[in-house]
Amino acid sequence: MPRGLFITLEGLDGSGKTTQINRLATWLKKRGHGALVTRQPGGTATGDRIRALVLDSRSTLLAPMAEMALMFADRAQAIAEVIEPALAAGQIVLCDRFTDSTEAYQGGGRELGSAVVLELHRIICSNLQPDLTLLLLPSLEASLNRARRRNQRAAGLSGQDEGRFEQEQDAFYRRVWQKYREIAAREPARVVLIEGDLTIDEVHEQIVEAVAERLAMLATGAQG
Ligand code: TYD
Repeated sequence: MPRGLFITLEGLDGSGKTTQINRLATWLKKRGHGALVTRQPGGTATGDRIRALVLDSRSTLLAPMAEMALMFADRAQAIAEVIEPALAAGQIVLCDRFTDSTEAYQGGGRELGSAVVLELHRIICSNLQPDLTLLLLPSLEASLNRARRRNQRAAGLSGQDEGRFEQEQDAFYRRVWQKYREIAAREPARVVLIEGDLTIDEVHEQIVEAVAERLAMLATGAQG
């Protein structure tokens, strides 16, 4: 059984990842590829509990190292329970955020630096690397506005509070943004950077192009 394809989506809060991941899953399905969609933090029963803990604005004074450790605890569980078994069974896995998020938010935003994140990834996640990472980076201003509007709306509708990160100041998000750009520059073969304020259709087109290319490589056995 050939190994599946591990695709991650990354970007700032409000970059439209969730819409794009769903459209990509539909696109893949139409072409006969079943895709397993998951997200981090979350995606497992244990992970959903970690997600609630780490995203709730009532989790005040959470130390940056504790926050990072929780993200890795969630990820270790997701890899063991969902991601590795699916890849081993030849499935395509679409994951909404992965270790690049930890590097950008905890490494950049919280200023813990990249080295500790990459080292923990090596130890805790056996250095599992996505085959392809789609990084959505619309302008910082557009992303921030969307995230704030959405969070106010979501809290109003469901009473569920996932706003701890959206309460961060612009300087925090600027550091996250900068770190994402650094990752893209460091790993151009893995990370496809989709920049600018594009329409949903335009972003989808770029995503599909990158994924089709990887699928073709997989089909010809040229991967890895
Ligand atoms: P997510 O639900 O993907 O938010 P959005 O849909 O707004 O992009 O992610 C929740 C938050 O968790 C987001 O603000 C980023 C943060 N996060 C980290 O800080 N570190 C991590 O390792 C991960 C996976 C997420």
